Amino acid sequence: MVNVAVLISGGGTNLQALIDACADKSFPARIALVISNNPGVKGLERAEKAGIPTKVINHRDYKSREEFDDKLHEALLESGTELICLAGFMRILDTRFVNRWKNKILNIHPSLLPSFKGLHTQERALEAGVRFTGCTVHFVNPELDDGPIIIQAAVAINPDDDADTLAAKVLTQEHIIYPQALRLVAEGRTQVDGSRVIIRDANYATQKIINPIPE
Ligand code: GRF
Repeated sequence: MVNVAVLISGGGTNLQALIDACADKSFPARIALVISNNPGVKGLERAEKAGIPTKVINHRDYKSREEFDDKLHEALLESGTELICLAGFMRILDTRFVNRWKNKILNIHPSLLPSFKGLHTQERALEAGVRFTGCTVHFVNPELDDGPIIIQAAVAINPDDDADTLAAKVLTQEHIIYPQALRLVAEGRTQVDGSRVIIRDANYATQKIINPIPE
């Protein structure tokens, strides 16, 4: 059983998906701690309801990013954390922190990386006119929304989609792939090879080809 800490800043629907996955006895990870940099957010309530220890480490209380990250690091070590899941965590982690947890931090991002890093991903996907967007779970490296990709899910963009409908469709997929990715990592089936992730014993025969051209 792998001890996971989930870092959040807000609503925590991805946290909820991870909590639900961990409720299954056969899931190879358990959430040992939820940390939020914002007090009073819904995600903290979700964790408390599930009986998971929570901690608020408010970045506004620290003079520098490094000091904040050191505090995070200390709390993570204390809780016996082995893997970190960023789930709507809206702080950039400094290089020193990321290197301390190399290939131990997962992030979920609402686009098909490396497209549309950063914020306002759905607006930018619509603006760019792409036919598909989606979401990505990746290992975190010191660059923003960058690092070896573990799983992606694609979502078709329809002409009547707006940023909200698209975000909702993408979020549904996020809730599916984040637990899947965490399972693969916790089972020790992922191996980082340069910028790629090799997944052991994966059944790629189940992958489907989707035709983006409407009939
Ligand atoms: C998600 O879209 C996630 O991909 C992004 O922030 C959003 C957080 O949503 N990083 P929630 O807090 O998990 O509901």
